[in-house]
Amino acid sequence: MSASESREQWGSRSGFLLAAVGSAVGLGNMWRFSYLAAENGGAAFVLLYLILTLFVGLPVMLAELAVGRGSGKSPVAALAHFGGAAWKPLGWLFVASGLLILSYYSVIAGWTVRYALAGLVGFGGDAAGYFGEVSKGWDAVAWHLAFMALTVWVVAGGIKGGIEKLALVLMPVLFALVVLLAIYAATLEGGAEGYRYYLSADFSAIWDRKVLSEAAGQAFFSLSLGMGAMLTFASYLHRGHHLPNESLIIGVSDFAVAFIAGLVVFPLIFAFGLQSLVSGSTVGALFITLPTAFNAMGSAGMVVGTLFFAALVVGALTSAVSLLEVVVSSAIDSLGWPRKRAALAAGGLIAALGIPAALDTDVLGLMDQIAGNVFLVLGGLFLAIFVGWVMDDPIAQVSEGAAGVRWFKLWRALLRYVVPVLLAFVLVGSLQATFEAVRAFME
Ligand code: TRP
Repeated sequence: MSASESREQWGSRSGFLLAAVGSAVGLGNMWRFSYLAAENGGAAFVLLYLILTLFVGLPVMLAELAVGRGSGKSPVAALAHFGGAAWKPLGWLFVASGLLILSYYSVIAGWTVRYALAGLVGFGGDAAGYFGEVSKGWDAVAWHLAFMALTVWVVAGGIKGGIEKLALVLMPVLFALVVLLAIYAATLEGGAEGYRYYLSADFSAIWDRKVLSEAAGQAFFSLSLGMGAMLTFASYLHRGHHLPNESLIIGVSDFAVAFIAGLVVFPLIFAFGLQSLVSGSTVGALFITLPTAFNAMGSAGMVVGTLFFAALVVGALTSAVSLLEVVVSSAIDSLGWPRKRAALAAGGLIAALGIPAALDTDVLGLMDQIAGNVFLVLGGLFLAIFVGWVMDDPIAQVSEGAAGVRWFKLWRALLRYVVPVLLAFVLVGSLQATFEAVRAFME
């Protein structure tokens, strides 16, 4: 029996879709999206992010799904399958991105677990002080390790028995919580000011290069693109799937959750007059402002705060398993390891890599800058070139299960001309910002 014959498969279409949406929906939708939107002109950023999701994100998503399903392999082998051994380094870049992103993502996830538990008893008096205590040091290391252990446990359970099962149970809970929270936020007195801030645009921001770079980086991060996560998930798909529809469902769900999360966060911030806290801190924005609001709400704040952070934990876990799966499936395919050993080894390595980020939030911010804005954009750029120019007949790959779709030529043209040019432009800006961040960090 060849490797591809014995390859695992998703148990059902909804199982795959919920797992893929689970990968996309995560800390990025709430933690990263809300502070970036606040920083970059509110609705102007949201609009730019929507446009980039449609014209760059979805074509790249479809490209990842096509390469994954077409090859039935994990990233390194999948790229070699369609492009020869010269393309293996791109696969290794994907694996490296997975290692790097999960190592600090898990630290933030550890904070959220701690906050969800702390919410049960109220967040103490001083949210900024609490964040300062919780976000770094050996306590943060311990929660990071615990979260990694949970992630390893799910991934060791396999595609159907681990990742899919988790998504089927938890994703409906997450949707329900987010909608419930948005309805609650709509009842807050003084929240209208928050909607106004969130939904009214400073459109001059659209022409700002930094806003474009951050919106593009965010589109990739939020859709889990640029490091082979969707590619890997698609490698467990059968040929009957209509890949354009699947991309659209994943993209729309991800945008919807990010957008609704904004409808929760901004009214809360304005109802409690916490605007100045948002702009003050970046990685900590959400973890300081919201608990301040929850504190001010008394016992209702305990309930709402616990539910909010529980939703975040769910999002973080279903995303973390997809990041780990990229590394694990590569170890299974390249080293021939059994899944359990691969999950333990990859998880252990990532846990160790994350320790510096758990000890120092500046290190964490720098890792996010490098991985999110440089590695993912670089990965997306090369993947677009790969599918647009190198792969033999990408349209044949996406057409399977999607007969009658007439815009595949347009898709290929986007991958050939529009996506690479735009991403190259974005990359220059991201590199500049990253060099500046590294320099500031060194000082
Ligand atoms: N998309 C997830 C979020 O928004 C994070 C994530 C999971 C991710 N897998 C990824 C980001 C792969 C980039 C690449 O929180």
